[in-house]
Amino acid sequence: MDRVLSGIRSTGQLHLGNYFGALRNFVKMQHDAECFFFIADYHSLTTHPDPRALHDNVRNALSEYLAAGLDPNVATIYVQSDVPEVAELSLLLGMHAYVGELERTASFKEKIRKHKDNINIGLLNYPVLMAADILLHRADKVPVGKDQEQHLELTRRFARRFNTLYEVDYFPESEAYNFGVELVKIPGLDGTGKMGKSEGNGIFLSDTDAEIRKKVMRAVTDSGPTTPDSPMSEPVANIFTLLKVVAPADKVTFFTEQYNSCKIRYGDLKRELAEDIIGVVAPIREKIEAIRSNDKYLHEVVCDGAERARRSAAKTVAGVREIMGIRRF
Ligand code: TRP
Repeated sequence: MDRVLSGIRSTGQLHLGNYFGALRNFVKMQHDAECFFFIADYHSLTTHPDPRALHDNVRNALSEYLAAGLDPNVATIYVQSDVPEVAELSLLLGMHAYVGELERTASFKEKIRKHKDNINIGLLNYPVLMAADILLHRADKVPVGKDQEQHLELTRRFARRFNTLYEVDYFPESEAYNFGVELVKIPGLDGTGKMGKSEGNGIFLSDTDAEIRKKVMRAVTDSGPTTPDSPMSEPVANIFTLLKVVAPADKVTFFTEQYNSCKIRYGDLKRELAEDIIGVVAPIREKIEAIRSNDKYLHEVVCDGAERARRSAAKTVAGVREIMGIRRF
């Protein structure tokens, strides 16, 4: 069975785009492979060293993923810093990572541009720590977006280098995993492009009903069709794409006909869209809230996850130590 690993940013705030895209696939995938999901809190310290925010962020990220359907009885779900083996593996892998190749990483270049006053070793080491996350469980597959492909390429390079240098076949060459399907692209509410956290055009799974209504009513449209069966502008097509995802088919048909006959009232369309989005989001938001305030449950989940992750990690690190010649007298 494939071993799949995914790192979750602790700064995450899940939106509808995540929910109908990667997350859906994560939830399905847990049953088809041996899955590890972890909250990458060490990584967030490279740019956001704020103790109070860190802990709250981890709590929120974990609560959101659990509410959205990651099942701790099926997958191994843990917090990165609960598994100190990753720090040791990062240190050991770092012995064979060259400063030059790390300095050339696109993410490093971007971060030093944005954080000129805090160019720390953690930033430079970011891809090594990420390789350690992945190789810690000798994962075959890593579901990541385009922005992480270079990191995955480096992970493979470190794995190959280790295997070659020590003449072993210890680490796999972990591949990016795209679920074998095109991810559904959920558009934002601002007329163009996909929904994203930094774009400010999204509906978050933690949004209240009132926030959802307000955001949807303000979504960009156009001045309306004037000739029957005219093609939709991008902003209007985006509203229909969202409607198709959340509303029953007859509602989509109704508004499509209204559009084609130039009778459509965008206000009505948006009011309906908002209610259907609420129908999806409200139950998840309530779950998020229940989980977030359930310290006992969260404690159990992270302790159990850490225990399972550490078992897998300890095996890998023991092997690496042995290979590198770190042996007890
Ligand atoms: N760098 C990833 C991101 O920004 C998060 C991450 C950390 C990760 N370690 C990982 C992703 C290991 C996949 C595998 O999204």
